[in-house]
Amino acid sequence: MKITYYGHSCFSVEIDGIHLLFDPFITGNPAAAHIDITTIQADFILISHGHQDHVLDVESIAKRTNAKLISNYEIISWFAEKGIENGHGMNLGGSYDFEFGKVKYVNAVHSSSMPDGRYGGNPGGFIITPKSRNSSFYYSGDTALTYDMKLIGETEDIDFALLPIGDNFTMGAKDALRCADMIKTHTIIGLHYDTFPPIKIDIAKTRQLFDETGKTLLLPGIGDIEEL
Ligand code: NI
Ligand code: MN
Repeated sequence: MKITYYGHSCFSVEIDGIHLLFDPFITGNPAAAHIDITTIQADFILISHGHQDHVLDVESIAKRTNAKLISNYEIISWFAEKGIENGHGMNLGGSYDFEFGKVKYVNAVHSSSMPDGRYGGNPGGFIITPKSRNSSFYYSGDTALTYDMKLIGETEDIDFALLPIGDNFTMGAKDALRCADMIKTHTIIGLHYDTFPPIKIDIAKTRQLFDETGKTLLLPGIGDIEEL
């Protein structure tokens, strides 16, 4: 699978030629100024929760690509009112088989209001199991560390996870490592750091923390691609 990082918590995953885009927040991120969002391919846009730093570019990319939105029911309804009716609403604990594979929408401990202040449903994360693989990857969305992650480790075979490491609004690196233990994975792509002053991190210290535990921390540059 080809993973392209677009900054903050946004990345795309190409699964067998199908493009999944997660939490697009690009035009509001000065560090991603070199990314031209009109060139981003998307067949599906997955939205973890309603906060602006996760939904800002959903409307423009969805209207251009006609990508199907996957999120909680409340967020799908909010975008339908904006004229984006190609949406698939889910709720916590539910799975659904899409053409690229299975999506499970799982619990996140966070909040979720839409940019206009409307209730954005419960925040969530996604476990994606591509049809062409027997294993999965986990995108936690914005969340605290929670014992619910142990359930994921008990029931899923997680190859790698995309987790917040910026602290303040979400888990920091130490808790992301505890999450990695609970979900039984060794490879973490770090997200949700450095974009805003309260989530600036010391990259060298963070890398050292991961090195000490023998886990791999990937921090792709914005626009960079990882093959996993
Ligand atoms: Ni948030
Ligand atoms: Mn956020």
